[in-house]
Amino acid sequence: MEKNFLTTPIYYVNDRPHIGHAYATFAADVVARYGRMMGVDTFFLTGTDENSQKNVEAAAANGEVDVLAYVDRMSALWQLTWDELGISNDDFIRTTSARHRQGVVKFWQTVAAVPNAIYKGTYEGLYCVGCESFYRESDLAPGKKCPTHERVVETVQEDNYFFRASQYRQALLSYIADHPDFILPATRRNEVIAYVTHHLEDFSISRPNKGWGIPVPGDESQTIYVWFDALLNYMTAVGYGTDEALFQRWWPVDLHIVGKDIIKFHCALWPAMLLAAGLDLPKRVFAHGFFTIDGRKISKSLGNAIDPKALVETYGVDAVRYFLLREIPFGGDGDFSIERLAARYDSDLASGLGNLVQRVATLANGMTDLPAGTELGDRVAGQLALYHSAMREIALSRALEIVWETMRMCDQYLEEKAPWKISRNTNASEFAAVMGPMAEALRLIAWMLTPFIPETARAIFTVLGLTKEGTSAAAVAMQWGASSAVRVSIPPRPLFPRL
Ligand code: MSP
Repeated sequence: MEKNFLTTPIYYVNDRPHIGHAYATFAADVVARYGRMMGVDTFFLTGTDENSQKNVEAAAANGEVDVLAYVDRMSALWQLTWDELGISNDDFIRTTSARHRQGVVKFWQTVAAVPNAIYKGTYEGLYCVGCESFYRESDLAPGKKCPTHERVVETVQEDNYFFRASQYRQALLSYIADHPDFILPATRRNEVIAYVTHHLEDFSISRPNKGWGIPVPGDESQTIYVWFDALLNYMTAVGYGTDEALFQRWWPVDLHIVGKDIIKFHCALWPAMLLAAGLDLPKRVFAHGFFTIDGRKISKSLGNAIDPKALVETYGVDAVRYFLLREIPFGGDGDFSIERLAARYDSDLASGLGNLVQRVATLANGMTDLPAGTELGDRVAGQLALYHSAMREIALSRALEIVWETMRMCDQYLEEKAPWKISRNTNASEFAAVMGPMAEALRLIAWMLTPFIPETARAIFTVLGLTKEGTSAAAVAMQWGASSAVRVSIPPRPLFPRL
């Protein structure tokens, strides 16, 4: 059976989740749900990155002396948020967990045993705690500031362990060349190739031990560099160092979904680490874009981070999922505004989808065993093919566009056939012949919506009297005419009530 092991970044717990984190997690959730529905054996992983110095700073800023208590509380908050947003992750990894630490220690020892892979050296340079990343002078903003966090970087000079990443440059470039799908979208691929070719240097992979983080095996005076530790979550969650059989079952990762901000870590450092350990490399890394809020960067100092839970209280989970994935082509950058969310809620969801379902339900209320017929069949089948290929390419906003195009075909069909002019009593068979294809098209629309807006899709299946649809294998059910007997009823409440 085909498998899909897919991941989100693991998030820092120095703050609560905002809409940007929800975006990456929703996208991964859609891909996971699509895979499961198509019968793919799926393992969807997310989690929290807890060994960072910025979490220590956040604990202090929140008046918490016990850093572990702080990260426990924050990690629980992240998990709860994903539950409330209906995220269907199969596991949640914490980098403070015993299973993670055990795997990290094993990995370090494995690479340390490779001649020349890890060596001791002195690091002199610039460091941003916000990014947990080293900088070159030429990459900084004026005033020696980190371009992302706009805080002055630290000048450090310390004895560290280094990972000889430079010796994997050629192997990495060959892997990228031989696997055109490794880095997506293609623009990111070029960016990584340029980076690996010109800038991939040995990495410092430890810092002086300040009492937080995973100590270097055999040298307690140092802790493992947080990115080196964090990237390993993708292995430790599936049993590396603790459950070899599980690891064999899921490795390698099929898809990492990450923001464009962390592509170098995922497409250069991470694969170099795996090459050193002799492990298979991830099949795909998809870098999504960033969005601003009302044209401004999401930032702590601006205080403009939007809590996804607050949005969901007003609009519902499905509307928020829909909006984020529809508004910004996946892979590109975009802007978020409440006005546009509200506008799309009205036009696409309440008027578009909500009305269509209501119209069909009202016209065909109480009808059973409607014949799918052939009208609309070819066109809907064509849309299904486009939808599946968009989903395979992770072109999520395109897939949604295709669904809405299908709805417009349905609206047009209803206008042409004008079933309201046909008497259900005296012309029963003619009426059924017009409404049957409509119900069938709606069933297939509900299937296409299942990964994106699962609650709404379920409500549509219920309107069609198909209570088991959406759980069975889509590969069979997503064909024109595959419907089991429908029984149409009016939804107890509108799918998207006017706000
Ligand atoms: N802990 C690291 C990742 C380690 S993975 C081994 C980290 N964490 S983070 O909490 O800063 O989350 C970063 C991710 O959140 C981004 O890569 C992106 O997926 C998401 N986003 C954060 N802000 C965002 C926007 N403004 N817009 C879209 N996505 C955003 O980096």
